[in-house]
This record gives sequence, structure tokens and C-alpha cells, in this order.
Amino acid sequence: MQTIVRLADYRPSDYLIDRVDLDVRLHPTETRVTATLALRPNPAGEPGAPLVLDGDELTLLAIALDGQPTGPGAIAVTPRALTLHQPPQRPFVLEIETQVNPSANTKLMGLYRSNGVYCTQCEADGFRRITYFLDRPDVMAVYTTRIEAERHEAPVLLGNGNPVAAGELGLTRHYAVWHDPHPKPAYLFALVGGRLGRVGSRFTTMEGRSVEVAVYVEPGKEGRADFALDAVARSMAWDERTFGRAYDLDVFNVVAVSDFNMGAMENKGLNIFNDKYVLASPDTATDADYANIEAIIAHEYFHNWSGNRVTCRDWFQLCLKEGLTVFRDQEFSSDERSRPVHRIAEVRTLRARQFPEDAGPLAHPVRPQAYREINNFYTATVYEKGAEIVRMLRTLLGPETFRRGMDRYFAICDGTAATVEDFLAAFAAESGRDLTAFSRWYEQAGTPTVAVSGRHDAAARTYTLTFRQSLPVIATEAAAGAAPRPLVIPVVLGLVAPGGGPVEAVSERVRDGVFVLETAEDTLVFTGVTAPPVPSLFRGFSAPVKVEHALTRDERLTLLAHDGDAFNRWQAAQSLAMEVLVGRARAGAPLGPGAGPEGEALTRALATFLDGEALADPAFAALVLTLPGEQEIAQAIGAEVDPDAIWRARQTLRVQLGRDLGPRLLALRDALAEAPGAPFSPDAASAGRRALRNAALDLVTAADPETGTALAVAQLDSAVTMTDRLAALATVSLVPGEAREAALTRFGEASRHEPLVLDKWFALQAMIPEPGTLDRVRGLMRHPAFSLGNPNRVRSLIASFSLNNPTQFHRPDGAGYDLTAEVVLALDGKNPQVAARLLTAFNTWRMVEDGRRRQAESALRRVAETPGLSPDVSDIAGRSLA
Ligand code: ARG
Ligand code: ZN
Repeated sequence: MQTIVRLADYRPSDYLIDRVDLDVRLHPTETRVTATLALRPNPAGEPGAPLVLDGDELTLLAIALDGQPTGPGAIAVTPRALTLHQPPQRPFVLEIETQVNPSANTKLMGLYRSNGVYCTQCEADGFRRITYFLDRPDVMAVYTTRIEAERHEAPVLLGNGNPVAAGELGLTRHYAVWHDPHPKPAYLFALVGGRLGRVGSRFTTMEGRSVEVAVYVEPGKEGRADFALDAVARSMAWDERTFGRAYDLDVFNVVAVSDFNMGAMENKGLNIFNDKYVLASPDTATDADYANIEAIIAHEYFHNWSGNRVTCRDWFQLCLKEGLTVFRDQEFSSDERSRPVHRIAEVRTLRARQFPEDAGPLAHPVRPQAYREINNFYTATVYEKGAEIVRMLRTLLGPETFRRGMDRYFAICDGTAATVEDFLAAFAAESGRDLTAFSRWYEQAGTPTVAVSGRHDAAARTYTLTFRQSLPVIATEAAAGAAPRPLVIPVVLGLVAPGGGPVEAVSERVRDGVFVLETAEDTLVFTGVTAPPVPSLFRGFSAPVKVEHALTRDERLTLLAHDGDAFNRWQAAQSLAMEVLVGRARAGAPLGPGAGPEGEALTRALATFLDGEALADPAFAALVLTLPGEQEIAQAIGAEVDPDAIWRARQTLRVQLGRDLGPRLLALRDALAEAPGAPFSPDAASAGRRALRNAALDLVTAADPETGTALAVAQLDSAVTMTDRLAALATVSLVPGEAREAALTRFGEASRHEPLVLDKWFALQAMIPEPGTLDRVRGLMRHPAFSLGNPNRVRSLIASFSLNNPTQFHRPDGAGYDLTAEVVLALDGKNPQVAARLLTAFNTWRMVEDGRRRQAESALRRVAETPGLSPDVSDIAGRSLA
């Protein structure tokens, strides 16, 4: 059993490391690393304590203390730790030589090879797989890295910081030396060596520093790196404009590799990326890919301040850098694209990923209080809910005070390993507010529900809103038994007149459109309200809560048509649809040609909406036409869920929308057609037009598969962008038959040599909501391009099935669970992080109806009881069953 690490047990390190000199001689199987560590006792630590350096799968070759071999019995060495029993109680130098095998490193943590390229991933605890070290974020050192390699194998050698020297060694070898003047924790260390193509440019910072920016990719793919390179420049400019943050080195490098556990990593001056989030060209990347690349480039770049200059004291503070940096990248995307459209996308992700996590057995606070395996806490809760907390802080304080608070945080904490308390203290000091109650957002798991009711008093001309918040009791260790305490919830709101237009009403409790709910129950009274208004609450999704608000259908229609807040207009359409969907799914209604009078009311409203403004904002219109996803419907139902009934409800409503809006949708599709030969642009406006065209095609096909398939096949043949090709293929993939199989075969053939495109092809097939999909997936696992060794392949084929195909993952016969469990076990020996992530598909197992629940539980138990599990998988399995 692994040990539990607790926030409450934090102690400063007994020793500090001020300087690290690394000498790395790259070799495919026998890489040698000499680390020279300048250590000293930490005044805040325990005097005379032994020095225990972390290690993981390391072979020690040599060790010296202040230039002398260590005496017999002075040290104890295992692959996991190096202990110096009686370290000097003054500054001293340890020289440690280790050997590692990058080619055998399938965990993709530490130093490994991806398509022959040497690269590293050290967050959270990978540096200890390179050398023995105090591998904890509050030990910060200045690094100098010398990398040596065969020139033919690794002509490009990159490290953190600035290049300071390079040269030849005999006929075949060469070296490069990099120096990073900024003290950093070991998790931000990186190096790269390999044959790589490069695109570059210069950026001059607001401080006048000329920075050499470069993106490195597989040779031959340089043309697909320009968009990422441009995104770096836009990120740099945005952070200067928006937060006054400038880059602080002479070089900024981004490297794309094809084997990567996550999206990307913010190593100081040397960001390493999953190539899926770098490579873009119109014929290989969709508009969604372009948006993701831009967002992740920005995210990693923004970490340079929120994460690197100010880092985390310990891993419990992960949200300090991740929540804040997600907030920053979301703001960037909102500024670069359409703010309301981006906000809707953020909320859809939050509801589809974070809400279920918060409602299931893996629920945890944004700042967890205990963990067994930290790599399992890179979650939607830490990242996305963490970002929502920062956004609420801005809403509560107002943008100017918020900005000053950020400045103060960076000024006070620069160069330190900080905590959530340090972060909040900066805002408390700047605003003069007590943020103690607000800080509960970091401590209490679970999604709050806010129930609201409104009452108009004609005689008194008042309108009264009553708010009641409730939090689920989550049995986390730290919260054991304690009742959750009220949260500070910013409610951005307005009143809409029944015929449209704002209502000029006043309440002294509302400042700048914000009402702050701080108690379990509160009442808000507006005066001067002559007619019953329609309240528009939580505008812009001002808090990550579930809202229970019994609006009538007509009130929702009023909001859809007239609300001044775009998010709530979209929300009104979603709520109208959700009522229909939940009603039908709960009743187990059969597939039908339409969803009755409620469905008709929705289609009428959507028709008016489309006629009025679809062409003015196609991206927004596409979102309004998109029904809530199956996972979201399942969450709304909450218990005894039947995924097939949900699919039937959703399909029925799609058929109705497609039928009733068909002629309009086809007309829109024509009106939005791209002029032949028009140049491609990945910008938000062009992407929005493609999104609406394809949403239209999709609904038309639901109602009339024959016409739709013909249109989609034609689009597949003529389209010049991957967005249009993939959308057509997705549409065709939902219609069983010859045309589908032919289209899939052709697409697969055409993209045979493009792994990232094949990933889309794998994913599409894995998401077909039909019983045949299970065998299709098993068949594709034997495809020559598929490999359990590559995380992107596993995610596109297996995780798409397990996490994004609810009817088939939850097959009543349990075969979907079995496949998932089987892959988790097969993968665990190779790559535990990816295996553990896949196992989180079982997060919803307690919500499904009895028969499925029993099947899911037995598959989970089979995993949990397998001997020799990794800590990663055994942690997820254990918590899922607890
Ligand atoms: N810090 C990275 C980010 O930008 C995530 C790295 C997580 N890696 C891991 N192995 N847990 O979000
Ligand atoms: Zn991050």
C-alpha cells in the first residue's frame, strides 16, 4: 500500500540545493548523468537530519562528497532513495553519477525517447528518474546543463534558460551548455536532443529584451509549426498588455514530440508539447485543433509567471499555478476570439468533465488535503474549477482591484514557492476584504446547488428573489463528518421585461450587476418594479454551481429571445431542451419522430432565432443548435441512469430539430458556403461559419439520413479543410450502411501516414453509438498504426470509447466495461499514468441503473484485485470503489 501524503504534514526540507550542474551524456540505452549539487542545511529544517534524496529506477555509478569518495556506511542506496546519514552542517557539494535507459522508459516520465528524440517530462516527480535529488517544488536551484551526444543522432541539443556554449568533440560527438539564471524546482527541468526541424522569429519585450523564439518539430513538418510560432508571439504580447508580465530569458523554445502523457509542459524556457497541440495545417487540423493549439501554447507560456517565477510550495498547491493559468489562457482565448462563444465552450467542458468528477467517487477539493499518487490530481477539478475560483475572485473584486491584486501577488511572491494562502492574501491586502469565507471554495468538494425563487408584489412594486445554497456532503478524509459551510457565490444578474428590454429596478444589494450570496439563504428585494420581470441569473455563468430555478417555458423563451447576456440566451435554449430530454429519458421513451409539444415550442423559438441572427453570429448559432450532451443529461438525471434512454431522447429531439428546421438549415448551409478558392483562415469568424454549416448538416441528416448522407459524402469529396472533411465523416458515421463503410475506408487510406489524422478517424469510429462498435474497436486495436505505447493512440481509440461513447461503454452486457478494464491492465505495466486516466471512465458507475452497475463494479473489482498494480491505477481503483 502506498503511503498517504497529507497537506497538514508539510515540513520544510531539511536541506536546500542552491546550484545544480548537470552533465548528461546521451545514449539510447546507457545515458550517464553527472549531477554536481551545491547543498546546505535549511535554517528552517531539522539540524543534523539525514539527507534523503529521491530516486526512481536509478542506477548509481559513483558518488563523492566535497570531492572525496564517501566512507563505508556513510550512505545507503536503493533505486528509490540515496541517504547520506550524517551530512555536513555547512554548505557542501555532492557529485552523483547515475545511469538511465531512455529507450526502455515507457512511462514517459524522466528522460525518454519519442521517435528517436531524447526528451524529458519531470512534473510532478520525474526528475528523480534522472538523478538523485530533493525532488520537491520548494527546493529551488540555479541549473547549468551540459548535454553531449552523437551529432548524427542529436544535432539539436536544447536545455533550460540561455545557450552559453557549444562545440565539437572529436569527429562524431558534440555538446551544448545551457544556463538558467532563474532558480527553479526540479519539475521545471528539461532537455531535448534529436533531429528536429525549426521555425523561428524574434519578439521584443516591453522591457526591450530581444527574444529568439523557436518551435522545433519533426523534420519536414516545419510548415505546420507556423501557427504555433505565431501563437507564442500573441501570447507574449497579451501577457504584457493584460497583466504587465514580460518574458525573462533571451530564448524561448517549444518542442513538439509525438509521445507525451499530457498536453504540454511549461519547463523554463523550453516548453515540451504533445505534437497534437503544435502541428497545424488546414488539411490536417480542424478549427478545434487550431483553437486548442493557441490555448495550450498560451497556457504553457503564461506559466512562465504563474507557475515558474512564482511556483508551488508543495503539490497540494497545484491549483495555484494550474487554476490561475487556465483562467489566464481562457481570458486570452476570449480576447483573441469571441468572448461569449468561448465562455459557452468553457462551461460545456466544465459540466461534461468537472461536474461528474465532483459528483462521483473521485471528488476532491480544488486543493486536495491528501493524496497517494499526485499524478492522479491533474484533474478537471484542479484545472477548470480552479480557474472558476479565480474568475469569481475577479467578479467579486472588480477588474481593476483584481488586476492590482495580481500585480501584488507577482511582486510579493516572485522567486518563491507559494501557497493558496499567499495568493489570497495579495487580494485581501489590495481590496481590504476578508477572503476567509471565500477560501472555502478551495477546501470543499462537490458542486453547490443554488435554488432560486422569485415573487412580484404588484401593490408594493417589489420583486423579491430568494436564494438557497446547498452543498453535497462529500466524505473526504479531511472533511469527515463535518457539514459543509456556505460558500461566497457571486451572482451576476439582471431583470428582463416580459416583452424584452432591461427592467430598471434597484436593489442596494446589487453592485455593478453583482449580488453576493454568502449565507445558506438570502433574499434580494428590488424596488420600483411595476410588472413581473424575468430574472436572468448567473449571467456569464458567474459561479460553478447548479441552478434550480423554476422558470416557465415562456420565461425561458423570453430570455432566449431578449436577454442582454449572450451566455444566458444560450442557457435558456439549453434549459428548454434539457427539460424535454430529461423528461423523455426518465420515462424511458422510445425513439420517435418528434418530442411532442415541448419539442415544437423549442423548434419554433429556434426558427425565429435562426431567421433573426444566425448569419450575424454563426458560431453562437451553432452552439444554440447543439443539444446538451449525453453526460450532461445523465448528470441532470442523477441516479438509476439508463444511457440508452438518454441517447433515444437526444436522438428524437435531434430528428425533430432537423425536420422542423430542415429548409432553414439547408438555406443557411448554402448562404455560408465558402467561395471556391477562398483562402483558408483559422480565425474565429471563419471557424464559426464552418461550425454552423456543419451543425446544420448534422441535424438535417438526423431527420433525413438519405439526403444528409448524400450531402455529407459530397462534402467529404470536395472539402479542402480538415474541419469540413471530418464533420462530414462524423455525420456519415452515424448512418449505418455501405456509404459509411466506404467513406471510413477511404478516409483511413488517405490518412495512412498522418498519425494525428488517423487519431481522428479512430476516435470517430470509437464513438459510434451502436453495439457493433465494440468489435470495431477491437479490430482497430490491431491496426498497424495503433499502439498501446503511444498515449495519443490510446486516447483516440480507447478513451474515446470509454469516456465519450456512453451507450457502448455502458453496454448492458458489461462488454464495454470489460474492454476498458482489459486495456487498463494491459497498459498499466507500460504507462501507469495513461492507464489510470483511462480507468477514470468508471467515475459514473454508481449513477447507472442496477444491472449495469453490477457489471461495472465487477470489472472495477477485477482491476483492483490484480496483483502488482501501479500506484496510479491502484489509487484510482481504490477510490472508485470506496
Ligand atoms: N503542468 C502541465 C500543464 O501545463 C501538466 C503536466 C502534468 N504532467 C504530469 N505527468 N502529471 O498543465
Ligand atoms: Zn498548466
